[in-house]
Amino acid sequence: MAFPEGFIDEVRRTADIVRLVSDHVGLKKMGQSWKGLCPFHDEKTPSFNVRQEPPLFHCFGCGEGGDVFKFVMLRERASFPEAVETVARRFGIPVPENRYEPGPDRKEKDELFAVMEAAADHFTKVLWTPPGTKAREYLLGRGFKKETLERVRAGAAPDSWSDLLDGLRRRFPIAAIVKAGLVLEKQGGGGHYDRFRNRAVFPIANESGKVVAFGARSLDGSEPKYLNSPETPIYQKSRTLYGLAWAKEASRKENRLVLMEGYLDVARALEGGTGEAVATCGTALTPAHARLIRRFAEKVVVNFDQDEAGQKAALKSLDLLAGEGLAVSVVTLPAGHDPDSFVKAEGGKAYRDRLEAALPWMEWLIRKAAAENDTKTPGGKAAYFEAILPSLAKVESAVERSAWLSVVVEKGRLDGAAALSELKRALATGHVPVAVPAAPPVARAKALQPAEKYLLTLLLQECPGVDEAMAELGEAHLEALASADVLRAAKALQRRGQKITASALAAEVGDESAHRLITEMAVNPAPTGNASPLACAREIQCWPLEARLEEIQKALRSSTGDELTLRQEQVQLRRQINDLSRPVAGVVNAAVPDAPAAESRIV
Ligand code: UTP
Ligand code: MN
Repeated sequence: MAFPEGFIDEVRRTADIVRLVSDHVGLKKMGQSWKGLCPFHDEKTPSFNVRQEPPLFHCFGCGEGGDVFKFVMLRERASFPEAVETVARRFGIPVPENRYEPGPDRKEKDELFAVMEAAADHFTKVLWTPPGTKAREYLLGRGFKKETLERVRAGAAPDSWSDLLDGLRRRFPIAAIVKAGLVLEKQGGGGHYDRFRNRAVFPIANESGKVVAFGARSLDGSEPKYLNSPETPIYQKSRTLYGLAWAKEASRKENRLVLMEGYLDVARALEGGTGEAVATCGTALTPAHARLIRRFAEKVVVNFDQDEAGQKAALKSLDLLAGEGLAVSVVTLPAGHDPDSFVKAEGGKAYRDRLEAALPWMEWLIRKAAAENDTKTPGGKAAYFEAILPSLAKVESAVERSAWLSVVVEKGRLDGAAALSELKRALATGHVPVAVPAAPPVARAKALQPAEKYLLTLLLQECPGVDEAMAELGEAHLEALASADVLRAAKALQRRGQKITASALAAEVGDESAHRLITEMAVNPAPTGNASPLACAREIQCWPLEARLEEIQKALRSSTGDELTLRQEQVQLRRQINDLSRPVAGVVNAAVPDAPAAESRIV
């Protein structure tokens, strides 16, 4: 982290979370906690809770939660260091001038940021001087305004092997310029040469506006059309969205981002008054992209190219975005248009009208499937339904899902009962008859069982015996649990002899849903009654055995596998379960619950 040792803790200790949240939300004291209307989702009855001890907030409506810093990060769309500064200022703690501790990673990254910034500067200067003539004429020839080109910091790499290298080598070590991906080593050694030559260059910035990469367009039809920076310690393309640094400002007003395919689509949208546009950088959309979008907006409008590749990309991305809880809609442009050509031809206002007319993704999908299949024939009906089913099954809300199902049935003139039973099957088995892009592994897909809740509560309460209990749980027990990430983090803390607290756990887990679970348990501990940690662990240990028993019973019923071996295993498993279920001090109240895998969702 970029602050001196101890500073963050000092801020955390000094900050009063109730006062800070009160700057943004009207809070009323109720028992031990304060309640108000959640600032992170629309609600009419308060489900947003803040506590002073431990100092955390949590919304039982939308699941957001965390500490003071997290609140500021969400509320002001700030990065972690920005949030620390904001909180420090709010409580009058002086922010150290020199925030950088000289860790080797940090130093390397700072140097790369500096190299990239210098390169961006160099390219933009070139664009407006004679060596940049070709790129300048190309861009102005496509109708971009000078002001737009300056706004996106467009630049030029002249037709030279060392123009950038010559500009940078006096100021930075060659190793850093190589590491930044700006120059390449000549084959057989003996010097370096520029990666980007004879191209128009677009800096790609991270969300705080620091240049981390370049995308460079060829000017003469040479391949590749766009040459991109390689990944570096400061650039991961799967987590970077072109345009986000300025789009995040614009997204505040609209509460939406518009997702496009190309750098110049984003630049043209900006020119036409749509500032909330972003694009992936020459890759397919990833779950990390979807989460990044969700951090800045609740709605996303997808505008992919109208060609087949673009439509395919759109389809995959929609499931991903909707799965992240975004309200997703899709823009359609006339055939042959991308956002750039459309805005250029029809103007910014016409484009914004299209954004307003964007269809909710399910509706777009239903129309598309209906247009591509002949729903008058039985085979066509099946193909139509199969094109929609994987996405329909991903709609989280049962109410919404069944409403869309009616639309699907009506539009395809399907048999309603048959369609419903197919949907139920898809939901129950988690298996849909066509290929679906793998959903990111998220813990919330599994239900949190009471024994896990108790164990988490007891861990946070430092109940005696938690160490022994945790020692009984191996990876084989953890992997199937909704709370796997949190329990793994607890184990890691125990290994290092650290105290298990909500903030220590939160610092260990990377996954958003794990964070939510931690804050939820800290704010709202489960009533453990007389449950002991060991009893919880024992119960959890039974689940994989139970699941295996069920498999065996199925196999026996359907006469698959060797009956004798199966029966022997069955006896063994029952014995193990019996042993584990022997009473230990403090029993979990419920009988052994269903194995977590058996969670069933209904329409
Ligand atoms: P397109 O081929 O659709 O280009 O690529 P475009 O954005 O319409 O560009 P112009 O208008 O012809 O200049 C869309 C995006 O795919 C990535 C780039 O991010 C590009 O903006 N791409 C494309 C590459 O990374 N490399 C390529 O060779 C081509
Ligand atoms: Mn284009």
